[in-house]
Amino acid sequence: MAETISKLSVRDLDLAGKRVFIRVDFNVPIREGVVSDDTRIQAALPTIKLVKEAGGRVILASHLGRPKGEKKLEFSLEPVARRLAELLDEDVGFVSDCIGDEVKTAVEDLEPGQVLVLENVRFHKGETKNDPEFARQLASVADEFVNDAFGTAHRAHASTVGVPQALGKGAAGLLIDKELGALSRVLYSAEHPVVAIFGGAKVSDKIDVIENFLGFADTILLGGGMAFTFFKAQGKEVGKSLLEAEKIGVATALLASAEERDVDLVLPVDVVVAPQLEEGVDTQTVPADEIPSESMGLDVGPATVELFRKKLDGARTVIWNGPLGVFELDQFANGTLGIGEAVAHSSAFTLIGGGDSVSAVKKAGLADRISHISTGGGASLQFLAGKELPGIAILSDRRS
Ligand code: 3PG
Repeated sequence: MAETISKLSVRDLDLAGKRVFIRVDFNVPIREGVVSDDTRIQAALPTIKLVKEAGGRVILASHLGRPKGEKKLEFSLEPVARRLAELLDEDVGFVSDCIGDEVKTAVEDLEPGQVLVLENVRFHKGETKNDPEFARQLASVADEFVNDAFGTAHRAHASTVGVPQALGKGAAGLLIDKELGALSRVLYSAEHPVVAIFGGAKVSDKIDVIENFLGFADTILLGGGMAFTFFKAQGKEVGKSLLEAEKIGVATALLASAEERDVDLVLPVDVVVAPQLEEGVDTQTVPADEIPSESMGLDVGPATVELFRKKLDGARTVIWNGPLGVFELDQFANGTLGIGEAVAHSSAFTLIGGGDSVSAVKKAGLADRISHISTGGGASLQFLAGKELPGIAILSDRRS
């Protein structure tokens, strides 16, 4: 994609002795004070190592969770700093704030090649508001800004947009380069047939991306909670299933647009239903147009998995975002796991984004068979919808 390739890269910077402020996405799950999935920390290592090896002083900033401007210990980045120290096999400094005197002193004490993790930037209200004074304070300890937080690139916050604004410059990290390379391949130079699979609870979250894919995909497979709004648009009864009544019109328009553009838009043909969403509840598999009025659809059925699997045959590019059922409960995980397996066994270029779809292929032990697993859910969706990512747009253009 022209936009990314033209951005300054961390590789272009002269880093020796410089204080390099790297915005990473260390928004990782923590259980009882321990990082339970370090994928995002691992993903940031190439940039961190590059800066260290070039003799830069590494200052790492991130958010974790949504503490809404308050210091809440369950959202502390200290466990992340500990995990990073293990991964780097060396000491990593940690400061209990991201601005102020403690940070200044810790940065002054940093030797070239050493790493310091700042406390959660969202402990300050100025972060999500992109407050210029807060951004100025973050930027005050930095000579260079590198954004490697792909998962947060869709947020115009102080640490993603305000700091490069304050410094008047910013470069892309290696993870951002890699993510945009893979996502751009799908959007701008995909080999056909292109098959997109979209799931998830709400139509409203996926309208833009479906619209964009209607412009170039050959096949779009839809599942998850949002399928019921499409069923309703087709005049089917959906019982107590999730329904966005105000989006029925949008679903109707998307179905019509698919037909007009000759895109094969495929909805589930059978559904796993239950009287309520509850562990251990009795389930039944019914055809999509026979959902009982007292039941709700909670997963796609086996005939749908089979149909979707067939639609993947011969695909050259496959993208998948969003679970096809209530994947958190084993009883309703079969659709998502089945599709995960089918995607993993496809010989196409395969790209997966979004937490649940990624967990599904990991749970099935098939993650290494996917061409690219994005570290960004919302960010990858926004990019695939053809929209600008503010955290990338603000970075300096590469001259020459
Ligand atoms: C994510 O997990 O998708 C990113 O870290 C962004 O987090 P946010 O949705 O809380 O901004």
